[in-house]
Parts: sequence; C-alpha cells; structure tokens
Amino acid sequence: MMSVVIVTGATGATGRATCAALVAAGHRVAAVDRDAEGLAAVAAEVASDALTTHTCDLTDPSATRAAVDEVRTAHGRIDGLVHLVGGWRGGKAFTDNVDADWAVLSALLIDTLRHVTLAVHDDLVASPAGRAVIISAASVASPTAGNANYVAAKAAAEAWIAALADSFRAEQSGRKRTPVHRPPQP
Ligand SMILES: NC(=O)c1ccc[n+]([C@@H]2O[C@H](COP(=O)([O-])OP(=O)(O)OC[C@H]3O[C@@H](n4cnc5c(N)ncnc54)[C@H](OP(=O)(O)O)[C@@H]3O)[C@@H](O)[C@H]2O)c1
Repeated sequence: MMSVVIVTGATGATGRATCAALVAAGHRVAAVDRDAEGLAAVAAEVASDALTTHTCDLTDPSATRAAVDEVRTAHGRIDGLVHLVGGWRGGKAFTDNVDADWAVLSALLIDTLRHVTLAVHDDLVASPAGRAVIISAASVASPTAGNANYVAAKAAAEAWIAALADSFRAEQSGRKRTPVHRPPQP
C-alpha cells in the first residue's frame, strides 16, 4: 500500500537514504529539515514528484505544527513518521556533562520528537497503517560516564515513543483511558 511518510532530519546521511528508499518502494515522502539547501539537494537526488520538502526548525512547536499542516495539505494524509533528527555532545568524565550540552541534546533529541509526534498523532491514528520510528543508541543500555547527557536524552526519547505506542494501542482498542498514578484520596 502506498503511504505518506514524513522523514525528519531528512538531509542527514540516514535521512537522505531513507527518503530515497521510501520513494523507490512506492511511497510518498515529506522531507523535513531546518536546512533548506540540504533539502533542495535531497529533492534533486531523489528526483521524483513523490517527494516534497518542508523547511522547519522542529525545536519550535508552532513551526512544527505549521509544517505538519503543510504536509497534510500537500499529500492529503499522513501515515508514517521516521524521526531522524540527531546530534551528539559529550566528554570523557561524568563532570563533562555540562548544562549547555544538555540544553542542546534535550532540544534536538527530546523536544523535536515531542513536537512532531504531538502534531502528527491524530493523523497516524486515523491511518490504517500508522507508524512512527526513531533511532535510539546502543549506549542507552550501557551508559558511560562522559556520555550521560546523550544517553539520558536518548532514553527519554525511547520512553516518549513507548508512550506514543501506548496511545496507538488505546486508540485501536477503544480502551477508556485511566491515569496510571492516581492522586492519594483524602
Ligand atoms: N550517526 C550516528 O552514528 C548515530 C548513532 C546512533 C544513533 N543515531 C541516530 O540516528 C538518527 C539519524 O542520525 P544522523 O547522523 O543522520 O542525524 P544528524 O545528521 O545528526 O541529524 C539529521 C538532520 O537533522 C537536522 N536537524 C537538526 N536539528 C534540527 C531541527 N531543530 N529541526 C529540523 N532539523 C534538524 C540536521 O540538520 P543540521 O545539519 O543543520 O544540524 C541534520 O541534517 C538520529 O536520531 C541519531 O541520533 C545516529
């Protein structure tokens, strides 16, 4: 079945390959990145009407919603999300995990994922084959001292995508949502 897939971080190495592979497999692709020139290069590489490009800084929630609206208008629906925005900061010692690096990593690895999944959630639920994908890091399972900021951000991204999966399950089964942690009764 032909699907409409958003690929974020589309101008990175993984993003370019993903866009090309999805179009070659017969899908429509909305390539999203903050790098307009890079997006033009992806469009030239893929050279297909099945791919549209959308310049957006995904750390901005309003801009993200606007970009997703643009994709919906261009393609009529959204069935999939391949979220590939990355970034790395780190050091050797635990104390190398400074706040400035956490600010960058939490924006790139957590905030962009939060913004784009919140914007596409209802589209993916409405799709007969909704899917959302991230790439985490093997180091989440075996953190090292100098990589604490990075693995913590990737672990948060994993937790967020697991919560999205729970929402898909809930929507599919029509299960009534109840809070897992109830406030103490007076
Ligand atoms: N490469 C690795 O060795 C490795 C290892 C483990 C996991 N991963 C994960 O695999 C995925 C893909 O990796 P990658 O190396 O292809 O990623 P990447 O090059 O770090 O990022 C992909 C693209 O996202 C763009 N981007 C960054 N911030 C953005 C923003 N705020 N809004 C929109 N676009 C933004 C980047 O643009 P700029 O060029 O302007 O920054 C870049 O072109 C990432 O999730 C990464 O964490 C990669």
